[in-house]
Amino acid sequence: MVAQRRGNVKVNGDAAIEKKIKRGNAQRQASQWKRRAGTLWCAVLTAVATLGWWYFTLDQDITETLVSRSVVLQRPKVFPVQCSEDYENYKRFPGCTPLSCARAVTDTVVTREEALALRQLAERGLALGGSEGGASILDLHSGALSMGQQFVNIYKYSGAQIKDVFSKEDFDLYKDVRSRIQGMIADTFGLDSSRMYLTKPTFFSRINSTEARTAHDEYWHPHIDKVTYGSFDYTSLLYLSDYGSDFGGGRFIFIDASGNRTVEPRAGRVSFFSSGSENLHRVEKVTWGTRYAITVSFTCDPDHAIDNPTLPSPVTQITP
Ligand SMILES: *[C@@H]1O[C@H](CO)[C@@H](O)[C@H](O)[C@H]1NC(C)=O
Ligand SMILES: *[C@@H]1O[C@H](CO)[C@@H](O)[C@H](O)[C@H]1NC(C)=O
Repeated sequence: MVAQRRGNVKVNGDAAIEKKIKRGNAQRQASQWKRRAGTLWCAVLTAVATLGWWYFTLDQDITETLVSRSVVLQRPKVFPVQCSEDYENYKRFPGCTPLSCARAVTDTVVTREEALALRQLAERGLALGGSEGGASILDLHSGALSMGQQFVNIYKYSGAQIKDVFSKEDFDLYKDVRSRIQGMIADTFGLDSSRMYLTKPTFFSRINSTEARTAHDEYWHPHIDKVTYGSFDYTSLLYLSDYGSDFGGGRFIFIDASGNRTVEPRAGRVSFFSSGSENLHRVEKVTWGTRYAITVSFTCDPDHAIDNPTLPSPVTQITP
C-alpha cells in the first residue's frame, strides 16, 4: 500500500510535472503564436503602408517631374520643345511671335511674400462669391467673379464697398508682378518685351476638391491655350500655394506623345510656355485643400491687348 501510495504519489507527482510541462509548452506555444501574429501584423501594416506610399508617389500617368515642389530653382529652368504649326494660322509679329518654343519654370521672379499678398487679395475677392463647384475665378480686368453656377461683376456687385476689399497697393503689386513675368518671358524666348501685350482672360483661380456643378468647374480637361483663346502666344501661371502642404493633386501636366511631365506648384513659382499645341496641358484634379494660382497671358497682337486692371475710382462711378 505504502509502495503503491508512494507509487501513486510518484505517479501524481509525475502527472503534476507533466501538467506543468504541458502548461509551459502551451504558454510557450501561445506566446510564440502571439509573436508570429505580431510579426504577421507588422508585415501586413508594412505592405499596406508601402502600397499607400506607392499610390501617392508613383503616379502611373506621370513620366517625369520637371520641377518638384521641394526644389527651389536659383535660375530659370528651360525645356525647349518643337513649335507646332498653330502660329501659321495667325499674323506673325516680329519680335514677339515664337520662333522657338519652350516651357520654363522660375522661382526667382516673384517672392513667397508677394505670392502670399496676392493670395490674400484673391481670398478677399473670392470671399464675396465662389462657385458651387470646386473651381472659382476672379478676373480683376473684367471684374468676373464666380458666383454659384454663374458669374457676377465684382465691381458692380460690391459698388463702393470694393475699397474695403482691394487697395491701390494690391493693384500696384499685380502690375509689378505682371511686368516682371513679361520681362522674364521676353528674356527666355529672346523677344522684344515692348511688343508683348497682356491679353484676356487673365485671372485668379481657387480650386478645391468639391465636385463640379457646371462646365466652368471642369478645369482638368487637356487643352491648348492658343486653340481655346486664339489671342494667346505666351501663357504664364503664378502659383500662390504649395502642392503637398496646402493641397493634394492639382499638379500641372504637360501631355506629350512621349509621356506626361509635371510641374509641382509652389507659392511664388512661375511656370510659362508658348501657348500652341506643343504645350498641350491639363491640371490634375485637386484631392484635398485649396489651390490658388494666377493665369497671366500675353499676345503679340496689339488688337487683343488689354491694360493693367485698375481700381474703379469714385470719379468714374459718379460720371453720368
Ligand atoms: C470648396 O469651395 C466652395 C466655395 O467655392 C465651398 O462651398 C466648399 O465648401 C469648398 N469645399 C471644400 C471641400 O472645402
Ligand atoms: C498621360 O496621362 C493620360 C491621362 O491624362 C493617360 O491616359 C496616359 O496614359 C498618360 N501617358 C503616359 C505615357 O503615362
